[in-house]
Amino acid sequence: MIIVSSKKLLVEYIQDYKRNKKKITVIPTMGNLHPGHLELMKRAPKNTIKIVTIYINKLQFDNLNDFMNYPKTYDLDIDKCKELNIDLLFIPDKSFSKDIKEYKNINLPKFTNYLCGEFRKGHFTGVYSIVRYLFNLIKPDYACFGLKDFQQLLLIKFIRDTYFKDLKIIEVETKRDKRGIALSSRLNRLSNDEILNIEKIYSCLNQVKLNIKNNISFHDIKPVAIKELESSSIKVEYLEHRSNDTLEICNDCSLDSSIFIACIINKVRLIDNIQI
Ligand code: PAF
Repeated sequence: MIIVSSKKLLVEYIQDYKRNKKKITVIPTMGNLHPGHLELMKRAPKNTIKIVTIYINKLQFDNLNDFMNYPKTYDLDIDKCKELNIDLLFIPDKSFSKDIKEYKNINLPKFTNYLCGEFRKGHFTGVYSIVRYLFNLIKPDYACFGLKDFQQLLLIKFIRDTYFKDLKIIEVETKRDKRGIALSSRLNRLSNDEILNIEKIYSCLNQVKLNIKNNISFHDIKPVAIKELESSSIKVEYLEHRSNDTLEICNDCSLDSSIFIACIINKVRLIDNIQI
């Protein structure tokens, strides 16, 4: 595996791959890799050059502390990428942040104002800025992203549809542990007791889904579900039933839709979703 920290060198490798008619898959990450990330890597199409990027993108954090404390586990991450036969790992040096244009005044689709967009100001502009930059730099044929960050995935598809029409986005199912907990780097910050508690998030999503399938109105289920979670010290930021393509509020369960949740447990913010 080649490890590159200079943008110039990365561009040279990309030019070389392109000259040799190789297809490229990119897996953008912020590091602290867990089995969910490894699942993204495993889904990269065979016979493509697999490039993982590790860059903790300050622009997408609405909280400086969160950014400063974001776990950095570069040595472990390098081992994991090697095990999965990644061809090139890009961990940019400090100068990289100066190159990224921040699209502060860009008009993003309406759905970026909902759900996480409502609670994390500037988050999706930050994601937009880095992902558009990376796609421009690497010019991938494929890119892998997880369905756990469903709203982010919609934004990535918007970037693809606007600027990179030939790029294929590979959508990867949320990786869960045996208890159904959606894997996330943030779980490292919770105690064992707190982890036991958050099993309730996925069971709550399943319960809500079942009720909707049984034609019980989401409007009636929502307060009961929130009360149940909050009785276990899980503070619910949002619990919403929204359509999968526009993220508009959904009153008709026959629509292609999902239940979305964000909650906070001891200052750690987790998101999850389930398709109806
Ligand atoms: O999903 C993430 O880890 C990040 O939002 C991404 C896509 C790597 C952009 O920084």
